[in-house]
Amino acid sequence: SRVKEVEFVKSSARARDCPKDNKPEFAILGRSNVGKSSLINALVRKKEVALTSKKPGKTQLINHFLVNKSWYIVDLPGYGFAKVSETARMDWSSFTKGYFINRDTLVAVLLLVDASVPPQKIDLDCANWLGRNNIPMTFVFTKCDKMKVSKGKRPDENIREFQQLIRQNYKVHPSWIMTSSVTGLGRDELLLHMSQLRNY
Ligand code: GTP
Ligand code: MG
Repeated sequence: SRVKEVEFVKSSARARDCPKDNKPEFAILGRSNVGKSSLINALVRKKEVALTSKKPGKTQLINHFLVNKSWYIVDLPGYGFAKVSETARMDWSSFTKGYFINRDTLVAVLLLVDASVPPQKIDLDCANWLGRNNIPMTFVFTKCDKMKVSKGKRPDENIREFQQLIRQNYKVHPSWIMTSSVTGLGRDELLLHMSQLRNY
């Protein structure tokens, strides 16, 4: 499960513009600012393969990165960004839903959940939507390094609450991986997990 090389292949505005070479791929999904692009950079150990920003809404297209010339990791625009217009939000859902439903080479979705905030309805709704459409998913908690919070709960408490809510809604329970793009926590575990899924 080592990453030897990674190359940016293309940005696509629509599902039908995505690469057609039938390599297995993993989609990185989650709220704006949850750390999708940062996680990709941490996985491949490159600073700015995927562009990141403090401001939500940085990633706007479907971005394909080819790892070891054999599989893709896909950076997607985030959902739930309050400042985008209603029309843009409708576009987001038809555009990404089109991608999920039609992408035959999709191995699994990595659904990123911010461990530094309490469970968010929009993340649970997203998990439900993926579950209903039989799209395999793994929960990846991000920002687990944020242990010092002045208000609210710690990441481990937020994670436990989120897991309880998911267990109430699912019969099978998906895999969970705790990560931090700052400390590298979970990097090896996630790479191993992805290599196991590819080899099924
Ligand atoms: P969009 O492209 O806007 O949907 O956002 P994104 O999900 O790609 O988030 P991005 O990777 O751009 O990160 C957003 C912010 O969170 C940046 O300021 C990152 O530095 C920060 N961040 C990301 N991952 C972590 C993490 O593991 N720990 C901490 N402390 N901060 C993180
Ligand atoms: Mg991004």
